[in-house]
Amino acid sequence: MSLCYLNGRYLPLEDAQVSPMDRGFLFGDGAYEVIPVYSRRPFRLDEHLARLASTLAAMRLPNPHAEQEWAAMVREVVDRNPWDDQSLYLQVTRGADMRRNHAFPEVVRPSVFLMSEALVTPSRELRESGASAVSAADFRWLRCDLKTTSLLANCLLRQHAVDQGCHETVLFRDGFLTEGSASSIFIVRDGVLLAPPKSHLMLPGITYDVVLELAAVNGLPHRVQEILEDEVRSADEVWMTSSTREVLAITRLDGRPVGEGRPGPVSEQMHAWYQAFKTTVMRGG
Ligand code: PDD
Repeated sequence: MSLCYLNGRYLPLEDAQVSPMDRGFLFGDGAYEVIPVYSRRPFRLDEHLARLASTLAAMRLPNPHAEQEWAAMVREVVDRNPWDDQSLYLQVTRGADMRRNHAFPEVVRPSVFLMSEALVTPSRELRESGASAVSAADFRWLRCDLKTTSLLANCLLRQHAVDQGCHETVLFRDGFLTEGSASSIFIVRDGVLLAPPKSHLMLPGITYDVVLELAAVNGLPHRVQEILEDEVRSADEVWMTSSTREVLAITRLDGRPVGEGRPGPVSEQMHAWYQAFKTTVMRGG
């Protein structure tokens, strides 16, 4: 049984209830984070809490908790759940008002929710075969840098992949790569790792930062630059990264093989660096 936190109480997930007037429910007026937990230690917690704080600031929603309080709540939920490796979900909405009004309520009492699931990272088979992806036009709004719960566009774009038996949808806007429906996208060309620059058109991924740090530390040639759609289609390697998918090669895009149609050497190297980094940081070596 999964134990969650809702508005001041720790309780079984199945007993948790919120008002239908909650603005998260009515308007998708909320912020969230997904934090991987390895051996009961949250990975990059400070960075996730900093991203939450910047999403809340952009939403003009006062952060209901100081960083120490968030950290204590995360620890409590992690400790009270049965798995060593978890996917910790944290959400803040603008709370419930007595009437439906797009404008913010005068008294803001945010709803705070934390829950956890067993962390399911890509299986060995999927890592060995690589993932399949389709592409689509990125029709989301112009604040994709905010991690808000208004995710209808991302859901439609992910379902677009699932409908075609694929794992992810790679998004292009005006001929340039942005990201995946729920992941950051990297490519490799001629041994150089390329990443699109952070902007309002993509989420600043925590895993994205780790990958670029690992490239720098290990001397892997890498550049952050705008990436053309054609450059993705003719790349030697394409990867997706996220807190739950870690580093996963995409080996088919729109039905055509990427590079040689199997995970390339740079993705395998980065995956190994990522696992080693996790082990050092989370399991004390
Ligand atoms: N999604 N871009 C989008 C649109 C995402 O939804 C995510 C992650 C990422 C990768 O971010 P990070 O490395 O910080 O996980 C990029 C999470 C996992 C989700 O919505 O479930």
